[in-house]
Amino acid sequence: MVQDWFKDAIFYEVFVRAYADSNGDGIGDLLGLTSKLDYLKELGVDALWLLPISPSPLRDDGYDCSNYVDVHPDYGTLEDYRTLVEEAHKRGLRIIVELIPNHSSDQHAWFQASRDPAHPEHDKYRDWYVWSDTDQRYADARIIFLDYEPSNWTYDEVRGMYYWHRFFHHQPDLNYENPEVQRAMMRVLQFWIDQGVDGIRIDAPPYLYEREGTSCENLPETHAYLKRLRAFVDAYAPGTMLLSEANQWPEDVVAYMGEGDEMHMNFHFPLMPRIFMALARADRTPIEQIMARTPDLPESCQWGTFLRCHDELTLEMVTPEERAFMWEVYAPEARMRLNLGIRRRLAPLLDNDVRRIQVANSILLTFIGSPFLYYGDEIGMGDNIWLEDRDGLRTPMQWEDGPNAGFSTASKESLSDPVIEDPVYGYKQVNVKAQEADPDSLLNWTRWVLSVRKQHTAFGRGRLHLLSPENRAILAYVRQDKEQSILLLHNLSATRQETTLELPDGGGQLADLLSGEVLVSAASTTLPVALEPYGYRWLKLG
Ligand code: GLC
Ligand code: CA
Repeated sequence: MVQDWFKDAIFYEVFVRAYADSNGDGIGDLLGLTSKLDYLKELGVDALWLLPISPSPLRDDGYDCSNYVDVHPDYGTLEDYRTLVEEAHKRGLRIIVELIPNHSSDQHAWFQASRDPAHPEHDKYRDWYVWSDTDQRYADARIIFLDYEPSNWTYDEVRGMYYWHRFFHHQPDLNYENPEVQRAMMRVLQFWIDQGVDGIRIDAPPYLYEREGTSCENLPETHAYLKRLRAFVDAYAPGTMLLSEANQWPEDVVAYMGEGDEMHMNFHFPLMPRIFMALARADRTPIEQIMARTPDLPESCQWGTFLRCHDELTLEMVTPEERAFMWEVYAPEARMRLNLGIRRRLAPLLDNDVRRIQVANSILLTFIGSPFLYYGDEIGMGDNIWLEDRDGLRTPMQWEDGPNAGFSTASKESLSDPVIEDPVYGYKQVNVKAQEADPDSLLNWTRWVLSVRKQHTAFGRGRLHLLSPENRAILAYVRQDKEQSILLLHNLSATRQETTLELPDGGGQLADLLSGEVLVSAASTTLPVALEPYGYRWLKLG
């Protein structure tokens, strides 16, 4: 197996619960997803990242896990999971599942034993979570779910002590000081490797350990444990990719790659809001600034990039002024905001303007790293801000204009989440079937650009050279590997823009990868360019 397959991959994030319901109970499931693998293959993605599928009371859509080594009965069985993997592999698609090491659900048997002195296994589990007599420890750790939680400590009546939690109070943090916890999580990893996985997303890795007087994030002890997970993977199932979700500044994130001996990938969180900022300001400066503080990664590692995901569009990694600007532009209504972010989908964020959706995706697909698409964004699905928390971004996939958008044959009332029905983004207007039939649809555009990306290794593996045209509404860069050099041009503004570019390696032929046209035969190193509003070009040099 190619060990660094993830460098060439296009990823697709899918919420199993909302994708396709195979048994008509109103809930999406693993066999439903399996039935859509041909669609995904045709879309052109390479790897599917599944949101949590293990048993859970679902107060945080499975990020509150109550049994790490099984499948939630709503979604099917372990056998269904193995069927999914087998069918995916037959089509050359890879599967990535979640490991949630930082915390479990308070319904997990470990926590139930830990909290209750009368529990027969209390002695074994008492130190599996972070207990304290006071709620004053680790006061320098920030609260992440600001809209819901007043403190990182919650008092437990049964134990008569406080327990530590970085997220919801029903998600107690596991105690990594305890070697048994360390081993237990290693066994969970092994379990999922045994079921067949190609990669594991490590949820919320920065918070595994706590130390007084620190932010309790990115601690050396945490990195040491993550390195042990990696060493295990390298010994037991080499080629299994570890993708970490450290929502941190680039200089802190590189630590998660170690010297190529920790995580294979990490999302570039701070880049994402800056793509939106650059579009809103018609000025590439925010992207340049974050790239200036983005260190090189170890050769064997890769960034993950994205525009949207299942969480709010996070504004943790921006300044307070930038956050205020982003909220004003992209979340004018209070219900669009959540914690330090924006709970909206891609198409509504960009006013359903297909030019803006395409230029944003063009940047995503050609800039650094490996891109992640969020299910439904390939057809421009909308959101429902009247649902609670992040549920409005996680509504059923819109397959067709028939009942329940083709997601489920259950009665409308028994759907786990309502389908979107508004006049602009509702399933009658926005659905896969209609877009498959329309050559100009966003879906067909997405299929096409994904197929072009896949033909050029420079996008996944090449170096990035940012160019500095005088016109700051133009984002221009070259992606270059041993085989090819590709010049990418993006107009971030709503008006036509012109500039003259200084090409790094002189002139030559420029073949437009999207239109097939051979653009210029410039013998000189300067190239005059003109771009339509939100226009973009992918030009192969030489
Ligand atoms: C991660 C997940 C998010 C979840 C949180 C707590 O940030 O992406 O959805 O709520 O972890 O587990
Ligand atoms: Ca079902």
